[in-house]
Amino acid sequence: MFHAVGTIMEGVNWGKNAVTSALEHPSAHDAVEYYCKKTGREFREVPANKVTGGLDPDEIMKYVDKDTVLLSIMAASNISGNIMDIKEIARRAKEINPDIYIVSDAVQHAPHAVIDVEDWDVDVCNFAPYKFFGVRGCGYAYVSDRVAVMPHIKLTCKDDNVWALGTPAPANFAAMMAVIDYVCSIGKHFLGDSAQKYNKRELFVEGMNHIHLQERALLYRMLEGTDKVPGLRHIPGVQVYVDMEDLTYKDLIVAMGIEGIEYAECARRYLEHGVTLFERVKSSPYSKRIVETLGLEGALRVSPLHCHGTDDIDKFLKITKDIAEGK
Ligand SMILES: Cc1ncc(COP(=O)(O)O)c(C=O)c1O
Repeated sequence: MFHAVGTIMEGVNWGKNAVTSALEHPSAHDAVEYYCKKTGREFREVPANKVTGGLDPDEIMKYVDKDTVLLSIMAASNISGNIMDIKEIARRAKEINPDIYIVSDAVQHAPHAVIDVEDWDVDVCNFAPYKFFGVRGCGYAYVSDRVAVMPHIKLTCKDDNVWALGTPAPANFAAMMAVIDYVCSIGKHFLGDSAQKYNKRELFVEGMNHIHLQERALLYRMLEGTDKVPGLRHIPGVQVYVDMEDLTYKDLIVAMGIEGIEYAECARRYLEHGVTLFERVKSSPYSKRIVETLGLEGALRVSPLHCHGTDDIDKFLKITKDIAEGK
């Protein structure tokens, strides 16, 4: 993110400000802040919607003007789970300034839904295999054609649009290809005999769309429960933060709390029951700005995946009820 944002901010000779949101992960937020300071531009930060947990296009546009060089908005929040309408945000920002560069951190969203950089019309997008069923130690980023050829750190002998440096580590690419093949296998499963008519990209999209639907069903079950076990919305003492009815704008992530139990203590009690989740609290510099813009003191972040089943969700709900009842 620093490399891509820096290339844009140092490469263009116009513009007086850059915009990001208070909901961003530090890797995206601080890249914009750093290069604003370095290039003498105003740094602008859009607050989150405290009710929905998302970023409203109307609010974002109040911060964008014809002097905005770059707008960096995450595709989905790693704390509230909200999915941002990047396509609409990019479209509206370009109405204000057709030359603006759009950056989107898709690290959180990539394992949950299709990322389509061409459809969204963004200049920079990134994801991290370690959040996408893959390995640590590498990250992937897309840059648009116009960003690819901007002056950037590269070997003189390489073409203008080459960003790779050094000797590649094949294992990292092999690991990511295995992830892609896995998602395609889900697509193939649902397409059945007709799967051979589709190319890899189409199979991947089909697979991701099914992952997304499976996760939405799990999210609904986690919030509403079943006849046998109440959902998070219905367990006394449990609070779902920045909850919203329309789950089409949420990835499978819930920010929650249990009355009378500190977040860290809560996470410890879940661990005793074999459930790993993390507290996101103000005392952590990674989380402070994010929980504050959401109007929270902190949150427990619950983030299952499509490969969890309904049994896992029911088990989690039973454990939550026991913890809330002090058992
Ligand atoms: C939204 C988001 N962006 C980016 C990252 C990448 O973090 P790192 O810089 O540690 O790879 C994370 C990791 O938690 C994230 O959730």
